[in-house]
Amino acid sequence: MKGDKVVGIFPITGGRDAIVRYATEDDLKDIFAIIQDRRFERSLREGEKMRILTNAEKATWLPEIQNPGKIVLVVETNNIVCGLIDIGKHSNCGDDTALVYSIAVLTSHRNKKLGRALLVCGIQEATDQLKVHSVELWATLQNIHAVNLYRSLGFQQKGEILPNATKWNRQPADRINMVKQFSS
Ligand SMILES: CC(C)(COP(=O)(O)OP(=O)(O)OC[C@H]1O[C@@H](n2cnc3c(N)ncnc32)[C@H](O)[C@@H]1OP(=O)(O)O)[C@@H](O)C(=O)NCCC(=O)NCCS
Repeated sequence: MKGDKVVGIFPITGGRDAIVRYATEDDLKDIFAIIQDRRFERSLREGEKMRILTNAEKATWLPEIQNPGKIVLVVETNNIVCGLIDIGKHSNCGDDTALVYSIAVLTSHRNKKLGRALLVCGIQEATDQLKVHSVELWATLQNIHAVNLYRSLGFQQKGEILPNATKWNRQPADRINMVKQFSS
């Protein structure tokens, strides 16, 4: 069982240590709050109606965190679960690559290096547990904060940028595919 296994402890900006660990059933309420916070932010940014997380969507998360083929980590500081990362294989990526399905930190807890802690641990667990040699993700190019984080950890652009594929600050925005390779 992955249980609540701790995979990393990091000093964070202006606070106590951040603990990154595998998510458990007890984290589901906090995970839903992080997803809803993210949806609220997106509705403001993209100008679309905010979608409330449905019971059917919520029901997918317990199998998700119990799936041995998935890495679902949370980051906790001062006993508050304030971010998550969800990584797994995907048929579009090939068997040697893991995809970051989502990474998010509560808006109230950004810029304290929690996102970095999640991604460092996510990459480490994907290589150890899923035995992959690269990790891939998609981002909005105008999401400078996220793209800077990915670049600083060694992710590089893969293929062409998709112009006008999404929105950022209610304006057309571009999607970028990024990959971090490891030697085999
Ligand atoms: C992307 C996200 C997870 C980063 O989490 P975070 O905890 O705020 O990020 P960190 O504090 O760990 O910052 C890590 C890096 O981001 C970059 N960064 C941070 N603040 C930044 C800013 N204001 N402007 C530009 N880059 C910034 C830097 O490269 C920073 O590196 P550093 O640690 O050397 O300073 C967070 O902003 C988030 O949840 N965003 C909404 C969800 C999202 O966009 N997910 C990505 C979808 S692809």
